[in-house]
Amino acid sequence: MPFEHYYQTFLNTNPYPRELKNYELAEDHTSPMYLNYCGKKLINFSSSDYLGLAKHPLLIARSQQYAQTLGVGSASSRLVSGNFSHYDVLEKKIASAMGKPAALILGAGYQANTSVLEALFDPSVLKSKPLVFCDRLCHSSLLATTRFLADLKRFHHNDLSHLNLLLEKHTQDDRPKFIIIESIYSMDGDQVNFNALIAIAKKHNAFLYVDDAHAVGVYGKSGYGKAADYAADIDIIMGTFSKGLGSFGAYITCSEMMRDYLINKCKGLIYSTGISPAILGAMDAALELIPQMQIERQRVADYATRFRHYLHKNNLNYGHSDTHIVPWIIGDAKKTIKISELLQENGILGATIRPPSVPNGKSRIRFCLTAAHSEEDVAQLLDVIDKITR
Ligand SMILES: Cc1ncc(COP(=O)(O)O)c(C=O)c1O
Repeated sequence: MPFEHYYQTFLNTNPYPRELKNYELAEDHTSPMYLNYCGKKLINFSSSDYLGLAKHPLLIARSQQYAQTLGVGSASSRLVSGNFSHYDVLEKKIASAMGKPAALILGAGYQANTSVLEALFDPSVLKSKPLVFCDRLCHSSLLATTRFLADLKRFHHNDLSHLNLLLEKHTQDDRPKFIIIESIYSMDGDQVNFNALIAIAKKHNAFLYVDDAHAVGVYGKSGYGKAADYAADIDIIMGTFSKGLGSFGAYITCSEMMRDYLINKCKGLIYSTGISPAILGAMDAALELIPQMQIERQRVADYATRFRHYLHKNNLNYGHSDTHIVPWIIGDAKKTIKISELLQENGILGATIRPPSVPNGKSRIRFCLTAAHSEEDVAQLLDVIDKITR
């Protein structure tokens, strides 16, 4: 292979090698959160299936029904012939659920963020390079195209006074200004203060783009996400179907005009095959179930509170998490990997997060509490941490 030595050198010198591990669902199927790995049963605390919808009978049945009638592939881009009328129905449901005039379904959340932001920042449309103010801990998908197209200013994580300060510094700059944030941060599990953020965006006439990926299903008056409760003051809300909504894919909600613009400009929509009809069925079922899942949302919140209390009582650092995503911040990457192995030996799977996903010295094990865990699962998590920290 030409140039092989470049890639091999990277692999040889990469301090944090990654590998794909093969997990199986536990054979007894007693819980969607039980996995088998190398013959060992693990309780999965690294799942983003926050409500346990990935294996919900209604999502499976509707997915099968859509596949039965439409097939498993949509066979072309939505702009060609892949736009089944089911899209239109679903997008209207999403827009109304999330309180915005229009919605657009895209492929994976990563694809949605990269391609929607690429379209938004198109210099030939804006006539200049926009100023983009982005939280320092924003997800990789929010930065991937942004860093090449925008004059990027990153503010300290969740520090709105720093955001305001950076915007103040540019009051004389008449280039378009955008703010990009997540409603709940995926690695830290902390939340943005929407009232303060919206006031800042309005004061500086900045466009507000919110990634609600980790909130949809779990937060909001009807469970449709945190941002949905502030929809009127947010220009674009992006969310995923791949986490709390149990399947795959993403949506954005916005104005009718913005939807039309993206249909004409967003390469992730124009040049990509429409998602599988089987997935559209699962999306439809999840949207229907979400408002009725208050008990599950309360269970997630109760488990998370219990876990955070435990960490606090034992002087274990969980940063500023106040959601169902709770990191145990250990610091040193090697130590974090060791602890993660000990957890696994004792039947607990948490997500080991190290640089470059988080800054040096901030390695952690990230736990997600879900409605599909049982009281006993959470008790076992605390017992195992007790045992290995003793
Ligand atoms: C904040 C955020 N946005 C977007 C994504 C990408 O979503 P998807 O997994 O559907 O590609 C993720 C995934 O981890 C995320 O955490």
